[in-house]
Amino acid sequence: MTTPIPSPPAIPFLGHITAIDKDLPLKSISLLAKQYGELFEINVFGSKRLYANSYALQNELSDEKRFFKKIHPGLEEVRVAAKDGLFTAKVPAEENWYIAHRLLMPCFNTAAVFGMYDDMLDIATQLIQKWERFGPSEKLDPAQDFSRLTLDAISLCAMSYRLNSFYRDEAPEFVTAMGEFLIECGRRSLRPGLVKAAMVNSNAQFMKNVKIMDDVVTAIVEDHRKNPPTKPDLMQTMLTGVDKETGKRLEEEQVKVNCLTFLIAGTSLSRMLTFMCYYLLKNPEAMRKLREEIDTTLAGRPFTIKDINKLPYLLAVMRETLRLSPTAPNRTVAPLENTVIGGKYAVEKDTLLNMNIYTMHRDPAVWGEDAEEFRPERLLGEKFDQLPPNAWQPFGFGLRGCIGRPFAWQEAQLVMVMIMQHFDLVLDDPSYELQIKQTITIKPNHFYIHAIPRKDRPRLSVGQSVPALIGKPAEASPGVATGAANLKPLYVLYGSNTGSSESFAQRLVSAAPSHGFHGSLKPLDLATEHLPTDGPILIVTASFEGQPADNAKHFVEWLENVNAPTGFVGVQFAVFGCGNRDWTVTYQRIPTLIDRVLAEHGATRLAARGEGDASGPEFFDSFDQWEKATWKALGEAYDVTTKTESVGLDIKVSSGSNGRAEVLRQRDMAFGTVVSSKVLTAPGAPPKRHIEFELPEDMTYRAGDYLAILPLNPERVVKRALSRFKLSAEQEVEISSAVPTSLPTSKPIAIFNLLSGYVELQQPATLRDLEILLQAKNSDASTAALKDLVANYASKVFTSRLSVLDILEDNKDIDVSLSTFLQMVPAMRIRQYSISSSPLWNPQHVTLTLSVVDAPARSGRDENFLGVASTYLAGVQPGHKVQMAVRSSNAAFHPPSDPTVPMVMVCAGSGLAPMRGFLQERAEQKKAGREVAPSLLFFGCRRPGEDFLYFDSDLKEWTELGIVDVRPAFSRCISDSYECRYVQDRIAHDKEDVNKAFDAGARFFVCGVGKMSTGVKASMLTLVKERTKTDDAGAQAIFDKVLKGRYATDIFE
Ligand SMILES: Cc1cc2nc3c(=O)[nH]c(=O)nc-3n(C[C@H](O)[C@H](O)[C@H](O)COP(=O)(O)OP(=O)(O)OC[C@H]3O[C@@H](n4cnc5c(N)ncnc54)[C@H](O)[C@@H]3O)c2cc1C
Ligand SMILES: NC(=O)c1ccc[n+]([C@@H]2O[C@H](COP(=O)([O-])OP(=O)(O)OC[C@H]3O[C@@H](n4cnc5c(N)ncnc54)[C@H](OP(=O)(O)O)[C@@H]3O)[C@@H](O)[C@H]2O)c1
Ligand code: HEM
Ligand SMILES: Cc1cc2nc3c(=O)[nH]c(=O)nc-3n(C[C@H](O)[C@H](O)[C@H](O)COP(=O)(O)O)c2cc1C
Repeated sequence: MTTPIPSPPAIPFLGHITAIDKDLPLKSISLLAKQYGELFEINVFGSKRLYANSYALQNELSDEKRFFKKIHPGLEEVRVAAKDGLFTAKVPAEENWYIAHRLLMPCFNTAAVFGMYDDMLDIATQLIQKWERFGPSEKLDPAQDFSRLTLDAISLCAMSYRLNSFYRDEAPEFVTAMGEFLIECGRRSLRPGLVKAAMVNSNAQFMKNVKIMDDVVTAIVEDHRKNPPTKPDLMQTMLTGVDKETGKRLEEEQVKVNCLTFLIAGTSLSRMLTFMCYYLLKNPEAMRKLREEIDTTLAGRPFTIKDINKLPYLLAVMRETLRLSPTAPNRTVAPLENTVIGGKYAVEKDTLLNMNIYTMHRDPAVWGEDAEEFRPERLLGEKFDQLPPNAWQPFGFGLRGCIGRPFAWQEAQLVMVMIMQHFDLVLDDPSYELQIKQTITIKPNHFYIHAIPRKDRPRLSVGQSVPALIGKPAEASPGVATGAANLKPLYVLYGSNTGSSESFAQRLVSAAPSHGFHGSLKPLDLATEHLPTDGPILIVTASFEGQPADNAKHFVEWLENVNAPTGFVGVQFAVFGCGNRDWTVTYQRIPTLIDRVLAEHGATRLAARGEGDASGPEFFDSFDQWEKATWKALGEAYDVTTKTESVGLDIKVSSGSNGRAEVLRQRDMAFGTVVSSKVLTAPGAPPKRHIEFELPEDMTYRAGDYLAILPLNPERVVKRALSRFKLSAEQEVEISSAVPTSLPTSKPIAIFNLLSGYVELQQPATLRDLEILLQAKNSDASTAALKDLVANYASKVFTSRLSVLDILEDNKDIDVSLSTFLQMVPAMRIRQYSISSSPLWNPQHVTLTLSVVDAPARSGRDENFLGVASTYLAGVQPGHKVQMAVRSSNAAFHPPSDPTVPMVMVCAGSGLAPMRGFLQERAEQKKAGREVAPSLLFFGCRRPGEDFLYFDSDLKEWTELGIVDVRPAFSRCISDSYECRYVQDRIAHDKEDVNKAFDAGARFFVCGVGKMSTGVKASMLTLVKERTKTDDAGAQAIFDKVLKGRYATDIFE
């Protein structure tokens, strides 16, 4: 008995054409695979193709007795240029493939490739020299430089021809033509014949690109004929070799198309190198281990032929890179006869079967639940040998497998070792998340890095000495009186995800001139391996679940592994940590670690570590105290007595615009578009909204990810500030700053825009702010009021969230300038929201489930307190543009990749957001015919008719679909929820079902405020205690052990 092959709903005539993203087919195919499972069918204009997605099918289809490579429509288009070259030839029909294959296989065997080593080294050295000469501040485009590298290496090694791509500023014409050609091949393959013929301009450009490529290979072949190399090469074999079996030679045309084939096929290698840099940069531990292996094994000497395949961790990194990003992500085969695959799907002879290697390489059956993670250890040494057959297939298989594999393997090792030996790599944008660009291969898009020459390495090129990326503090901007020439350098480094530490760091830099220093401001990662010793270093950093912030990961990884006991002698430092005591076990873990390790390895601690608890009223005060003590210590240590008058900020009223995300150092932000927004709650209840956005181009997401939003202040609050400073919304200012600032400088900006978008106007005033206000011109009444606030800071300012603006409004006679005010208020922060949709519903759209903060102000002011971002989002209309970026969440907080694994989800209020995304994903899978386990959803809200979100829409539909069983807890109507007030009470009430779900292997997800999560955990511990008849400690131990990896929380402060 066979089973029908699942297929998405189709549009008449067009079939599934709209189901496939024309620029990134891989995205659509992977999402369809997630939805439909191991095999699905797609029809494009009547042409049918199957997509196989599981390891089991990968293994089955790798049987050349039953299946053989078939040229798919995309490759048909590539044949316009590459004809019957090795890669695109139709076998067995085209005899030229056999001749070329037999002649060229020996040219690519391992021994032959060893012989290419010197030429490879020659080209790799050009790359290293280029990066060295450009220096650490140059933003490098690795994808482009690796394209230069591989093209030049292949043409020199195989054809003795120098393309000299590194000697041209522009991308080589061949690379551009090839890129455009390959993209167009993909697009043409999705167009019906008539449409294709009608696209005259595209066709002309397509043929122009074919000609550019053809001219290059013609030049190479002619040059080779005129100047035959002294040592035989692959081109020589193509031009003169005779096939032993047929006695035939390759025609000139065949030589050219194969020459072109190698140049095209070589792009896979450049892309692999780019992905490797990406994965290493995103995984500091792997980067460190690789570098350690290279430094220990080679001890600084150059990599030689003898070292090839001798660095096991390097090989594991290469394998893992190609597992997660097989640069040729799919290939096609067809059955030689009518057959049945997967034991149940009937497939006719010659049907196009697309092997989705990208998804197959993530099959949890082979790679486990952490398949999405980059973990070279899984492919280290014998682990690689123990893989099930055909599980790792980035190079294809069998007769049509990659002929260039030994070449690629050797070149990749040489290049990565040279890079690691010469540079510390850092991301240009630490928050960069992988974006993929696809032709027939894939590569990271918009991926930029900096290469900082390693201090301990001799440089290849002779030139100016290169400063580290964190460099010396910049000169003051012209026209700002600071006495900067007399100031000493100061380095302020931060590790920050949501902006508090960065904002404190900014304050230090701003204040530096008045303490005799001139500061530079950079994320900690940029100081990895490069801690300056010519000035004090002030570090402000946070912890997240005990881990460093995203822009401090490399730094901390490096620090934790420094061995030399005196490694930091000469470094002078002080650390301030931002943390939150709700994270009891890992409170201040990262700042403490940095402070300890630096001191233990010989660095001089200038001031005692400071710590701020974001959950308490002393947060800002702790920083102020620490700052005061630290400046004092710095003054003594550096004998700085001069105090410059200027605070370094100068404002001129004039006209212009901004570049907000860049200035606020949120460079991954881009504009998304609002699609719709609706209220989910009953009138009168605290509002919750459902908002749908179209994501900016190239942004992708997973269910459970966050959407970071760069908001604008509520208009009402901005107007309050304008009127307090007696300014008009239409006036413009021009800011100059002697120190790095998160305000827009040196170009005019409307005051309204400045106050709306660059600063937080509603943060509680700090004690330092109060001091500044006290020093300003004041009346006696204001001075008394300010002193009262200082004396009762916790209750009257912090807890009631009294802002500087509130205080200035209440005390109209306090005389401060706009400039002073702007230096008191922190930079605008991004806010994160759990995405409440799944890409299986719509990969380009996301939804948020938003709780709007609009409540009587704790300060007792007349008007309600309006949360910045939630008010901003509550006010957006369809068509509005919003600055946003997808940020990945905790790796464990995603739905299990196997939909038959049940979930127990616990949440309250808008904590439902990620759970809705999980359930939507499962609903799409179920509707696609997959087996989906039923899940339990514990949801806390006030009353059934008030804020039971999605109750009569999605939750109803998904309950009827059988994928979820909803267990509400109505906190203000307990009679409707079995007297359970909160979700933790409902868990206790429904313990039998929770136990059953646990026994069925369920994964647990909890989302909401800290207190709820604590309550839920307590409830779970009680369950464990009852089940196992143990005491509290025993229950905790069992909980930690048994639920490790099965219990994920997403908690907000
Ligand atoms: C990982 C993560 C995921 C999140 N996901 C979601 C989500 O899916 N949906 C969602 O709605 N939110 C979510 N949040 C919360 C969200 O990021 C914002 O914190 C929230 O929207 C408030 O931001 P805001 O700018 O509107 O308020 P802000 O301007 O930042 O004001 C909030 C601050 O004001 C204080 N405050 C609150 N009420 C008053 C009052 N009456 N008077 C004075 N002060 C007051 C609060 O204590 C808080 O300190 C998430 C948070 C995190 C960390
Ligand atoms: N991933 C995230 O980090 C994330 C996701 C979504 C939302 N949020 C944020 O979470 C905050 C609260 O969200 P909200 O406004 O949606 O919630 P809400 O509507 O105020 O509360 C939802 C329910 O939780 C109950 N509750 C209160 N304290 C509880 C406790 N200790 N244990 C269990 N239940 C409790 C409430 O009961 P009573 O009011 O009757 O006491 C109510 O029934 C918002 O600031 C929102 O921005 C964060
Ligand atoms: C990391 C680098 C590389 C990867 C991941 C890779 C991957 C692949 C894959 C998957 C195939 C099979 C395609 C199919 O079945 O349709 C293939 C074929 C091929 N590759 Fe590579 N390749 C790489 C580098 C190279 C290099 C550097 C060259 C040449 C110098 C090369 C030359 C070829 C050729 C000629 C074929 C066609 C073989 C045939 O069918 O006869 N590849 N490659
Ligand atoms: C998801 C999450 C996890 C956190 N984990 C910790 C922690 O383990 N230890 C700690 O001291 N603080 C923890 N905090 C608190 C932050 O470190 C604190 O809010 C800090 O001010 C954030 O700094 P930033 O704004 O510079 O990123 C956590 C906060 C969040 C949102």
